[in-house]
Amino acid sequence: MPLTVVILAAGKGKRMRSNLPKVLQPLAGRPLLAHVLERARELEPSAIAVVHGHGAEAVREAFPDEVLGWCLQAEQLGTGHAVAQALPDIPDDHDVLILFGDVPLIRSETLRNLCAKLKSADLVLLTVTLKDPSGYGRIVRTADGGVAGIVEHADVTHEERLIREINAGVMVAAARDLRRWIAGLSNDNAQGEYYLPGVVALAVAEGARVAAVEVDDTDEVLGINDKSQLAEVERVHQRARARELMEAGATLADPARVDVRGEVTVEGEVFIDVGAVFEGDVTLAAGVRIGPNCTIRDSRLGPDTVVHPNTVMDGVTAGRACELGPFARLRPRTELAERVKVGNFVEIKNSQVGSGSKISHLSYVGDATVGRDVNIGAGTITANYDGAAKHRTTIGDGAAIGSGVMLIAPVEVGAGATIGAGSTISKDAPADRLTVARSRQVEVPGWQRPEKNSR
Ligand code: UD1
Ligand code: CA
Repeated sequence: MPLTVVILAAGKGKRMRSNLPKVLQPLAGRPLLAHVLERARELEPSAIAVVHGHGAEAVREAFPDEVLGWCLQAEQLGTGHAVAQALPDIPDDHDVLILFGDVPLIRSETLRNLCAKLKSADLVLLTVTLKDPSGYGRIVRTADGGVAGIVEHADVTHEERLIREINAGVMVAAARDLRRWIAGLSNDNAQGEYYLPGVVALAVAEGARVAAVEVDDTDEVLGINDKSQLAEVERVHQRARARELMEAGATLADPARVDVRGEVTVEGEVFIDVGAVFEGDVTLAAGVRIGPNCTIRDSRLGPDTVVHPNTVMDGVTAGRACELGPFARLRPRTELAERVKVGNFVEIKNSQVGSGSKISHLSYVGDATVGRDVNIGAGTITANYDGAAKHRTTIGDGAAIGSGVMLIAPVEVGAGATIGAGSTISKDAPADRLTVARSRQVEVPGWQRPEKNSR
């Protein structure tokens, strides 16, 4: 059967107390909905429909390139009403898998099992037994163990409150059946909403075969309704990422203090100290060591490169055995060859630095091409911006730039050149020569320091 996945994402998420629609709340740096969409895509369905409503524009804008069927639920009258918005566009012969935008850790393997069950059932739902079921819909079973229905937390009786098997929110059924059941829902309940789980009792009443698949891993079905649950799910997700890193060969100083907000590829044994945040696509070659409190985004670090504490990187490529930081800021299109040393309070952007070169302290290197074995002294700045355009600085192999040098781009320093400390270089400096561009030191004879009047 062709499969349509319907993702419910229209709710405001009142319990979040946030201006951001719930499904845009970040998990590992990406909206909750992005995680659910990823799981849905792994099933390779014929179509994915997203029911959205609260913050509709913001939600659509967050997924501009996705080939999604957007269904608007103008008023949020309940999860059953939400599904009803998507149904008219779904052909009768499709299976419909319903996912919740606020249940992001569900595994696609679990979803596949659920869909497979539809061969021998008319409605399949996912359940789990929780220590603390509060907030969730409870699965009510008959004496012989069959599913009788689902009762929402707001509607439970005293006895039902004690039921620990809950509705994970995920369901699958044929479009034609679902259409009939959804049409039969009423909103006669504590919240005055059309509850999707209400279809279970309607299916049972019809004599349809209702199957419940119970998952063992309670983490998979955690729903996010408030900030505590968001934080809890973030930790569960990060623990899994940390485990993957360790399986790939990373030694983590503390698996609870590494955050992966993207993809980290580890190519061998690496060491990662506490407080590391990885964003986007990061690759760490064998022998890389990351010191405490580093943020590394979209970067590739070569073998044996060491990153000292509090270094921030974005869009960096570093070769073998570089030494970066502490307190370095490396910005997009920074390309460091091998054994490059970048020390404290150095900012680099859009620059290539050749093998063995050193920029050890307090410098800004922007839009520059720096050769091999160049030494850039403390406090050197490439003045690359004239207020309108950026200009390049080129420094040849083996050049030595003294401390406190201003290189006013566009400018070129030849190979083997030496630039005297404190120079302001606005014209090209020739290779293999000493260039000094600073006013001479003078002594002023007879000068007297003014004195304050003592009144
Ligand atoms: C829901 C289930 C509950 C289940 C729990 C699992 C219902 C009535 N209850 O409760 O049985 O145990 O999830 O996490 O279904 N939404 C819409 N339109 C609406 C209302 C909600 O799109 O009109 C979306 C929300 O954005 C959310 C999802 O549906 O992504 C679930 O809604 P929520 O209000 O969080 O339901 P729960 O109270 O958690
Ligand atoms: Ca929920």
